[in-house]
Amino acid sequence: REQPIVAMTAYDVQFARLLEEGGVDLILVGDSLGQVVLGQDSTIPVTVDDMIHHARAVTRGAGSTFVVVDMPFLSYQVSTEEALRNAGRILKKAGVQAVKLEGGDARTCETVRALVTAGIPVMGHLGLTPQSVHALGGYRVQGRTDEDAARLRREARALEEAGVFGIVLELLPADLAEEISTSLTVPTIGIGAGPGCDGQVLVVYDALGFNPDFTPRFLKRFAELHEAALDGVRRYAEEVRGGSYPDQDHSFPSIDPT
Ligand code: KIV
Repeated sequence: REQPIVAMTAYDVQFARLLEEGGVDLILVGDSLGQVVLGQDSTIPVTVDDMIHHARAVTRGAGSTFVVVDMPFLSYQVSTEEALRNAGRILKKAGVQAVKLEGGDARTCETVRALVTAGIPVMGHLGLTPQSVHALGGYRVQGRTDEDAARLRREARALEEAGVFGIVLELLPADLAEEISTSLTVPTIGIGAGPGCDGQVLVVYDALGFNPDFTPRFLKRFAELHEAALDGVRRYAEEVRGGSYPDQDHSFPSIDPT
């Protein structure tokens, strides 16, 4: 449609319905689930069963919106066979349309090829790949040296050749992300990678202001739901303690008036 692709994460039916109603093009059940929903300190502890559990809830609310699920850490790195088995299980049980996996080295591309050959659409993910956070030395912008930028260009081309239908570019300098996006025929979806990507993705809780203390440069908050929700919780507590809720209007009379 010559328009940027709008993607957002969701982890349950309510948010999936919200994103579908809001006209999001692609829902990602990200393994950011670990941090934003399960309270873990990285994506590393997330399991295939966690992803299936949440992805099933998302597909119940997503309507006809395209849903992609992250393959969690060590569900695709050990062997191609295991990757196939796990991706197949995710597709069968969660009813999603595609999987996403991180990295672009030769082994990952071989895995992508095997999944695509089996009929499983795959999305790539380059730049800051959170499952490798310890190897990368933290959540920081990637591709700032000539060597790293060259590797990322190479890996993006290799993933495209391996058959991905799109690539998430996370935390890259805007000019590098734009150059990679222009050089590929498949779309890129950026997060912290500037306006030159073919689409954008944000974690729904961050974009809607549920995590007021999370303020990376790339993040814009499109709502302040933490404030609104906290206000609601406090008013509820106040009214229950003060005896003003529930009142007559919110109680059932012994005889139904209708
Ligand atoms: O897990 C996730 O939410 C992601 C997005 C940040 C792209 O991979």
